[in-house]
Amino acid sequence: MNPRWVTTCLPLLFLSFANAGILYPRVSETREQISLDGLWNFATSSPTQKHDSTWYLRNFRAVDGLEVDLMAVPSSYNDIGTGFEIRDHVGLVWYQRDFVVPKSWQSGKVWIRFSSVCYSATAWINGEEAVSHSIGHLPFQADVTSLVVYGARNTITVAVDNILTNSTIPEGYIEELNSGRQKQQVTFDFFNYAGIDRPVVLYTTPSTYINDVTVTTDFDGTNGFVSYDVFLVGSDAVTARVSLLDKEGNEVAVDTLLNSTLFVQNVNLWWPYLMDPSPGYLYTLQIQLLDSSGELWDKYSQPVGIRTISWNENTLQINNKPVYLRGFGRHEDSAIRGKGLDLPLILRDHNLIKWIGANAYRTSHYPYAEEIMDLADQLGIMIINECPAVGLIHLGTPELLENHKQSLTEMYNRDKNRPSVIMWSAGNEPASSDPQATDDHFREVFAHIHDLDPTRPVTVINFNGRHDNQGGEYIDVIGFNFYTGWYQDTGELDVVVTNLVAEGQRLRGIYNKPVMVTEYGSDTQEGLHILPSFVWTEEYQNELISKFFQGFDQMRDDGFIGEMIWCFADFKTDQSVNRVGGNKKGIFTRDREPKASAHLLRKRYWALAEVLDNVEVPDDVNEYIIGN
Ligand SMILES: *[C@@H]1O[C@H](CO)[C@@H](O)[C@H](O)[C@H]1NC(C)=O
Ligand SMILES: *[C@@H]1O[C@H](CO)[C@@H](O)[C@H](O)[C@H]1NC(C)=O
Repeated sequence: MNPRWVTTCLPLLFLSFANAGILYPRVSETREQISLDGLWNFATSSPTQKHDSTWYLRNFRAVDGLEVDLMAVPSSYNDIGTGFEIRDHVGLVWYQRDFVVPKSWQSGKVWIRFSSVCYSATAWINGEEAVSHSIGHLPFQADVTSLVVYGARNTITVAVDNILTNSTIPEGYIEELNSGRQKQQVTFDFFNYAGIDRPVVLYTTPSTYINDVTVTTDFDGTNGFVSYDVFLVGSDAVTARVSLLDKEGNEVAVDTLLNSTLFVQNVNLWWPYLMDPSPGYLYTLQIQLLDSSGELWDKYSQPVGIRTISWNENTLQINNKPVYLRGFGRHEDSAIRGKGLDLPLILRDHNLIKWIGANAYRTSHYPYAEEIMDLADQLGIMIINECPAVGLIHLGTPELLENHKQSLTEMYNRDKNRPSVIMWSAGNEPASSDPQATDDHFREVFAHIHDLDPTRPVTVINFNGRHDNQGGEYIDVIGFNFYTGWYQDTGELDVVVTNLVAEGQRLRGIYNKPVMVTEYGSDTQEGLHILPSFVWTEEYQNELISKFFQGFDQMRDDGFIGEMIWCFADFKTDQSVNRVGGNKKGIFTRDREPKASAHLLRKRYWALAEVLDNVEVPDDVNEYIIGN
């Protein structure tokens, strides 16, 4: 494909069409919704394909010489087919489908919302450009009221471009292979899935509507406080009724201002999983706009968890109680679907998280689907929410900095009201070789996110700026990925505890901030057993993580606030000589069955819960071995 043609047709970068308001679309008395998920027509561009500059605005099936397939939405497109052409495709792919907009929708506004397209996307409705967006894993939407026809058939066409460059988030570059094919090289160790990975919906709002709401919470003894700020678009000739409903739907507080603080007696705080008998308590903030005659004009309901986050140089606290994070790094990844949202899979994952007794994870290495975040809010899982800045190299370039800040803005706008989000991660393993540039870049990135959100701490994993405590001025929590016994000192279990504790103490010494391990582990082929243990066996994974447990326990009382194993489940990577079918550091297999390590980690996480959260360990965690 001619790259110039791509840039002239799709001037995607640096356009932030995304309205600040990006509320999750919810049906209400005043809002309707139609899902556009399903099977779409699908085509890929190739340099030899015949087309003029607007062929994609025609019915794909009527374009001469265009090979048209079906593609599932939501799904990554890579693993649906049978050829490497689609799996390893570089550049544009095209999606198209028809839909009908009801006549009754004519009276208000109609929106289209994409929950995530990787990476950049442009959508046309009936031949008119509707929206364009350039960062994956984040939602975007547009008002399409004047583009759709009512009571009739409409056509939507979406161009999806998976090219990553030295200024996109994340970064990448195109390499010409010896075969003459192009390859998208990336700066991360997971498969570069692409496509319309999450749901697409059409929904309605009235012409005057609730565009956004920001909620912050506090408590004092048994009194809870919910401060909210509702942003309207349209006429101001409306009045508001904002109420807080408890879990049973009883109204516990009400106000008529768009910007105010609700007061709740006998508050049920949002607690992390296992820190309370009913963790993840959610209220509902019900926002209603009424016209002058008291008729309901718009209504939107926002889940709210009442909790505080605080931090100092030694601890991270939820509701003034220090927390110890026990969890995972994860991926959105599964066979066939790639990063496509799959409801049975995400429920299974959360059932496994409950089973294993974890209370936290990091959304390595990009924001996860909103439906996953909903489960975390409801279960009381603490989330380190990571933007897609993984492995950034070209620090010091203004374009990359702008796009990095934009990704954080969009992640904040989407997730600011989620009680589960207890920390922002500005990225993973920045890989610039220039410590000064790294320092300057992250100083601006951190200022940006602290500006957006003073209520949550910020980290970047494996910060490698200047190590003279410059970073300590702006990083709130130090997260480090540590692979002693695997990438370093391979097979040397005896040095693991010493190496780990030394690194933890070194980082404490430099930054004087809470420290946690955000990755550790070993690749493990399920069913492979060798005694004495050997790399890649289930024995080795168990022995390695046991050594880490010892190290963690030595550090726990000294500003060490958490352990997250890499990885929750096996996942697909690019082809390489040290990856057999993907990264096998999962404690669950890719189809979410436990390796021996999952049972061991379960004993550890429940033992931590017993000691730190005072919970009773389920009988089946520790089986009966011997009586006397
Ligand atoms: C980024 O890539 C472009 C196109 O390949 C190149 O011209 C430019 O020099 C690169 N920028 C940096 C900072 O490497
Ligand atoms: C509304 O509330 C926000 C907090 O979200 C606050 O920063 C802002 O100043 C308030 N605005 C007005 C007009 O009261």
